[in-house]
Amino acid sequence: MHATGLELHTETTVRDLEGKTALVTGATSGIGRAIALQLAAQGATVLVHGRDAGRAVQVIEEIELSGGHARFVPADLGDPAAGIQLAKDAGEVDILINNAGFSWFGASADLDPETFDRLFASNVQAAFLLTGALAPAKVARGEGNVSNLSSMAGIIGLAGGAAYDATKAAMSSFTQAWAAEYSPRGVRVNAVAPGPVYTGAADRANTEALGKTTLLGRAAQASEIAEVVGFLVSPRSSYITGAVIAVDGGRTAV
Ligand SMILES: NC(=O)c1ccc[n+]([C@@H]2O[C@H](COP(=O)([O-])OP(=O)(O)OC[C@H]3O[C@@H](n4cnc5c(N)ncnc54)[C@H](OP(=O)(O)O)[C@@H]3O)[C@@H](O)[C@H]2O)c1
Repeated sequence: MHATGLELHTETTVRDLEGKTALVTGATSGIGRAIALQLAAQGATVLVHGRDAGRAVQVIEEIELSGGHARFVPADLGDPAAGIQLAKDAGEVDILINNAGFSWFGASADLDPETFDRLFASNVQAAFLLTGALAPAKVARGEGNVSNLSSMAGIIGLAGGAAYDATKAAMSSFTQAWAAEYSPRGVRVNAVAPGPVYTGAADRANTEALGKTTLLGRAAQASEIAEVVGFLVSPRSSYITGAVIAVDGGRTAV
């Protein structure tokens, strides 16, 4: 039988984030939702960010039903002022997960300037503003974590993905520069670079086809990405910083 990832996934139950607060952007869906559930299972109080209040409530209910704590912090990250306001609404957080984003695939000639700007505002600028606003308090405490969502698309070229790929390469670059800036004062900054993942955003047939190009011959479940993020923001990864971890079924290894 071929593994699908569902059979492989075993829930991490180590409660090593007790007393910590985590802001997860884009936690109302897909990978961000899985990360929110993962960090709550590890004991963190989770600030569930997104735009869709209905889906946010579902994620919060799921966390609370398992005995965890969460609250909704809405913001449209396409608007820089909303990103700055989100940092204020969040208050002091120990863990920041820069996950929110969207993709656009098509001929480069067809990408209009407004969509290009919105892509970079949501995928890149928002993470920059949030980290800049929230990291100094972590530095002052001498501890904290930032975890960024990059992608294999930031490492290899995907036809039709020039602009999206560049946003994800930026997240990898941020990871190294922020590690250089913040880690000497105790704040670890890492990224995961997933391959194809089954989420609401992704077209299922495309995800499946891309999954077949990986060494494992399949796409990932969102929980398989969340497991790695849960590890990266926990004390179990205490000597890792500035790393971009490929979670792509080996797609970029060959
Ligand atoms: N799926 C993949 O194959 C894959 C692979 C590699 C990397 N990634 C990366 O993983 C991250 C999550 O992707 P996903 O597939 O889980 O996507 P998803 O299911 O569409 O979820 C995207 C999340 O981001 C939020 N979001 C998007 N644009 C926003 C904006 N302008 N303002 C506020 N919130 C916004 C959405 O909030 P609302 O719905 O509430 O508005 C939603 O919670 C992205 O950074 C993506 O680039 C995905």
